[in-house]
Amino acid sequence: MDSGGSTTFAVEKTSHPVSAKDREAILANPGWGRNFTDHMVTIRHSEERGWHDAKIGPRGDLQFDPATMVFHYAQEIFEGLKAYRQPDGGGALFRPQMNARRFHNSAVRLAMAPLPEELFVESVRELARIDRDWIPSAEGASLYLRPYMLGTEIALGTKPSAGYLYGVVASPVAGYFKSPTATVTLWVSENYTRAAPGGTGAAKCGGNYAASLAAQAESLREGCDQVVFLDAVERKWIEELGGMNIFFVFEDGSLQTPPLTGTILPGVTRDSLITLARDQGMTVREEPYAIDQWQADAKSGKIREAFACGTAAVITPIAKVRGRRHDFTMGNGKAGPVALKLKKTLLDLQTGRSNDTYGWVDKLF
Ligand code: COI
Repeated sequence: MDSGGSTTFAVEKTSHPVSAKDREAILANPGWGRNFTDHMVTIRHSEERGWHDAKIGPRGDLQFDPATMVFHYAQEIFEGLKAYRQPDGGGALFRPQMNARRFHNSAVRLAMAPLPEELFVESVRELARIDRDWIPSAEGASLYLRPYMLGTEIALGTKPSAGYLYGVVASPVAGYFKSPTATVTLWVSENYTRAAPGGTGAAKCGGNYAASLAAQAESLREGCDQVVFLDAVERKWIEELGGMNIFFVFEDGSLQTPPLTGTILPGVTRDSLITLARDQGMTVREEPYAIDQWQADAKSGKIREAFACGTAAVITPIAKVRGRRHDFTMGNGKAGPVALKLKKTLLDLQTGRSNDTYGWVDKLF
């Protein structure tokens, strides 16, 4: 099957679109991940036919046999990227090729059939184009695209599925966190780890997120917003949060983020911030940082800020950190200037308010 160009997809427009009035009401207050656009992508894979039957059709239910493999062995991966309204009324994606590459790598790690990267990019572009009226224009809002893939073979043996379904749904979103101060408090997880060496930590698979939920629930019970995971071997090194990467800002203005050792998700926002910060003259280290050191540096003033980053989280400053053995505040407990400056730089680029010298902005229309 041809993997490039919009002719790849059979397009069927919905006969029951959400009315313009209802859509505008949703876009005025989209929340996060609870409202969806009118259409969706589906593409099938079988051993005989490879990737085939690419469709963009009305959004609706999917039907599966109860013995479908994904329900039992969780052969499932996903991605997250956003379409942003541009100043001229157009729309643009941000670095979709990075998501396509990571999706490919996740598929390989989960022993799934990799989707051609071109086809991934075309699928998200086409869905965002057909549902272009759903791209919000309010500050901080965007259209979140959620590609996913799952094993569809009907069988209970533990082996890679012989068939797959790839799909994309889209959801208008505003901020991921509800915090009115736009900062988060972290809970240091000592009972749970997220990923071990040789495991699936670097893959974006649903299983990693399922495994994080008990720790996330513990964090909420403790009055925090997010969990921070430590490495599984020494229980010492900071890895990442429940679904986002982490950066630290030191008193000399340098930045540090945990290195990609195979247990951490290689975030597109993480990668973009490293480049943007270096281009603004900042030193950025990809080096391990220990939780006890963080507490000591926060108390001595050596560290000034920390922030979470991801497609959903964008850049969210960390105000406080708590745990069984930890309790400290970052700076004055408010959003710090470095986090705010980097957030503005990133959002200006994504929303077309600044000139894209990187070739990261992927114009849709
Ligand atoms: C994203 O940032 O796109 C994610 O998939 C993280 C998830 C917690 C929403």
